[in-house]
Amino acid sequence: MFTGIRSLLLASLPLVVLGSPKHTMPSGSFFQLYAYGDAFGGLPLFYAGGLAYVGDPTLSNSSEAAVVSFSTNSSNQFTGNPNTTNVSTSPTWSNVTLFVPATATDDGRIGFLPNNYDQGNSTVTTSGFAFYGSTAMLIGSDGSISTAFCGMEVEEGVYQLFWNETDGTKPLTLRSVAPSNPSSKRH
Ligand SMILES: *[C@@H]1O[C@H](CO)[C@@H](O)[C@H](O)[C@H]1NC(C)=O
Ligand SMILES: *[C@@H]1O[C@H](CO)[C@@H](O)[C@H](O)[C@H]1NC(C)=O
Ligand SMILES: *[C@@H]1O[C@H](CO)[C@@H](O)[C@H](O)[C@H]1NC(C)=O
Ligand SMILES: *[C@@H]1O[C@H](CO)[C@@H](O)[C@H](O)[C@H]1NC(C)=O
Ligand SMILES: *[C@@H]1O[C@H](CO)[C@@H](O)[C@H](O)[C@H]1NC(C)=O
Ligand SMILES: *[C@@H]1O[C@H](CO)[C@@H](O)[C@H](O)[C@H]1NC(C)=O
Ligand SMILES: *[C@@H]1O[C@H](CO)[C@@H](O)[C@H](O)[C@H]1NC(C)=O
Repeated sequence: MFTGIRSLLLASLPLVVLGSPKHTMPSGSFFQLYAYGDAFGGLPLFYAGGLAYVGDPTLSNSSEAAVVSFSTNSSNQFTGNPNTTNVSTSPTWSNVTLFVPATATDDGRIGFLPNNYDQGNSTVTTSGFAFYGSTAMLIGSDGSISTAFCGMEVEEGVYQLFWNETDGTKPLTLRSVAPSNPSSKRH
């Protein structure tokens, strides 16, 4: 079922990307990611307790929750640091590496490896993140493209990010573009 949704997402992308992936980086060296989809009007991605969420970080029960400011490099890894704009005490986490679960794992949660653990292990994928335009995607070592991001509501206005998980989640795309209308974030 999810494969259907995913194919639909891919079908909406120009064919050229499937033939020869172009890695288009967002302009500027730092970017944030925002969730878009039927249930999401551009909620920002934030870090809490080593896991990835979208929504308002001040609603999180983690005192270290903060919107993630990302940078990427030639290994196509996404390194995150807290955007301290709205936080009262600076989080202690830094240079965390975004991961999605490897295909064979049962745990579908998306999260971050701590500073200096960026290579991860066989259960997580940390490299291959790229953009088509402003849409984030994962490019496999065989050149395959996937955008299997989805969110599970954990409280009103906060969704936990999952990868390729159909049960209780809603599909979304992650884009580097902030919503133009701030009130749409509340969707
Ligand atoms: C924070 O909330 C999540 C669910 O939203 C829960 O799984 C977790 O145990 C909570 N953590 C604390 C420290 O209360
Ligand atoms: C932090 O977030 C603000 C918006 O709340 C944005 O203007 C700023 O560019 C961000 N900083 C970084 C380093 O991403
Ligand atoms: C890219 O960033 C990751 C995580 O910070 C780091 O481990 C890796 O060495 C970097 N790769 C290059 C080519 O700079
Ligand atoms: C800071 O708060 C404002 C107002 O709620 C919000 O629009 C902005 O996206 C927040 N920025 C960050 C980085 O949390
Ligand atoms: C985070 O990474 C940057 C760039 O590689 C480096 O300059 C900085 O020292 C790192 N910070 C920590 C706390 O490791
Ligand atoms: C999603 O999961 C299915 C089976 O559980 C697997 O065949 C498929 O390769 C996975 N897709 C991605 C993008 O991980
Ligand atoms: C791999 O890393 C993830 C994220 O830190 C962790 O949850 C998992 O237990 C690790 N797996 C192994 C086999 O070490």
